[in-house]
Amino acid sequence: MSTSKPCRIPSLVKKYLMAISGLVLVGFILGHMLGNLQFFMGPEVINAYAYHLHHLPGAPFSLWAIRGFLLLMLAVHVWMAILLTKENREARPESYLGQKTNVATYASRTMPITGVLILAFIVFHILQYTTRVVPEDYNQTIGESTIEVAHVQLEYFDVYAMMVSGFSSPIISLFYIVTMGLLCMHLSHGVHSMFQSVGLRNESWRPKLKLAAAAFAGLIFIGFASIPAAVLAGAGSGYLAEKEAAWANAPAKSAPAH
Ligand code: HEM
Repeated sequence: MSTSKPCRIPSLVKKYLMAISGLVLVGFILGHMLGNLQFFMGPEVINAYAYHLHHLPGAPFSLWAIRGFLLLMLAVHVWMAILLTKENREARPESYLGQKTNVATYASRTMPITGVLILAFIVFHILQYTTRVVPEDYNQTIGESTIEVAHVQLEYFDVYAMMVSGFSSPIISLFYIVTMGLLCMHLSHGVHSMFQSVGLRNESWRPKLKLAAAAFAGLIFIGFASIPAAVLAGAGSGYLAEKEAAWANAPAKSAPAH
């Protein structure tokens, strides 16, 4: 009887796959944060940006291709994380007993838990802002407004009003700010390990890379968390009240499909 050995991915390949998928996800997070920061430039700017995102050349296939690629990267990242965590535990069983944990930083030890919580956040976030199925109890106002794209006036989905209404709920805003803190922890260790996985292990560089990774993660935290914080402080409330009154008088058409 023939016994087939399970196909084992070499450790180095796992580390590279983890680093490459992580880099793609970091790129997305940075781009998404910069895109979202247009919130501070007002409704016209962020609404036109959302319109352009949904009308990329080749849409809707291009949009679905990007989403599929990101999902694949996320799956690879999670899968490699599971395999590498298992491998590390098998190699150092004593760490189960907490005898070696003192050599690891708090951020590195909590990578699996921050990773799982970020995944749960992404599921909620997509339900709230992409598929928009979070109940109205969470202040989800959906409607269309006039936006200007290439000097043409269009009635299009008002993402600015949706963001303001979503973050007008203190529970939702707090949830986002706390999750952004977890994302910051995950990134500060993840980006640093990514440098190491691709061979930047030089001892003299180590503290500098660690600092750079922490500074990057801090900027991501500030960039994302500033939006719910600004809404809680009153940003956009006048605009939202005006829109809600207008939509209550003339019910909005359903939001455009993605
Ligand atoms: C304050 C923080 C954030 C805000 C205001 C925000 C806002 C939004 C909005 C408005 C959309 C819908 C875009 C559209 O359909 O027009 C969206 C989609 C999305 N966001 Fe965020 N986001 C935030 C943080 C994050 C973070 C931290 C992540 C990842 C870790 C993330 C991942 C995603 C993903 C995966 C989508 C779906 C993209 C798609 O396929 O359409 N977001 N976000």
